[in-house]
Amino acid sequence: MIRLGQSHPAEESKLRRFALVGLLVGTTLVTYGCMPDTPNGEGGTIASGTAEWPSSFSIGRDATAAEIALLDIDFGPDGAGAPAGSGSVAEGKAVYNVQCVGCHGLTGQEGPNAALVGREPRDGFPFGETRGIRKTIGNYWPYATTIFDYVNRAMPMTFPGSLTADEVYAVAAYILFLNEIIPEDAVMNAQTLPAVVMPARDRFVPDNRVGGPQVR
Ligand code: HEC
Repeated sequence: MIRLGQSHPAEESKLRRFALVGLLVGTTLVTYGCMPDTPNGEGGTIASGTAEWPSSFSIGRDATAAEIALLDIDFGPDGAGAPAGSGSVAEGKAVYNVQCVGCHGLTGQEGPNAALVGREPRDGFPFGETRGIRKTIGNYWPYATTIFDYVNRAMPMTFPGSLTADEVYAVAAYILFLNEIIPEDAVMNAQTLPAVVMPARDRFVPDNRVGGPQVR
């Protein structure tokens, strides 16, 4: 009988043996696990038996074209992938005041969630040097198409994907209008939205660093 805090000598030596075997197995696994798996490398292992692997493991099935189309919704800055549809600023205001206002505020500035509207600072682009400047669509986003893409896939946060293409074009138009980027009578569609030049359009450069901090 073994009591807590006491151990029988025979049990103790058994435990030690277990521990030793465990240590050896562990070390062996670690050693071999870390070896490079090169075909001819010293100590390397050659992958064998791959020829007998089946061509398919019969897990799942190919996605259908319709299923891919459902997920293939990206709308690029150049207009690639733009869905058909259109929406005016006035229509967007109606959508916004029902679907978005509770989280983004009546003017798009007061939240409680992300501020969507705001042009300051209009001069310069001090986001890298000055902390605490609120980044908004109006002062920071380089492409208007991102509004469509983002809202279409992620908003309203409680029911993403529920808006029609017309509604997303419209709400994008309203947000652009509130940011003083397009006039009140503008209509956004597959052609006009990519053509909108955002205030921060030229503030970003392609990240082509090659290991250092400099952007060429
Ligand atoms: C239930 C709350 C809620 C509703 C409703 C909602 N949003 Fe949002 N929205 C959020 C939150 C939270 C974020 C920030 C998400 C994050 O940063 O990951 C956000 C982010 C955004 C952003 C990105 C802002 C940025 O600068 O990163 C846009 C654009 C946006 N929402 C538009 C809309 C529009 C348009 C609607 C209405 C169709 C809407 N949202 C409805 C909560 C909401």
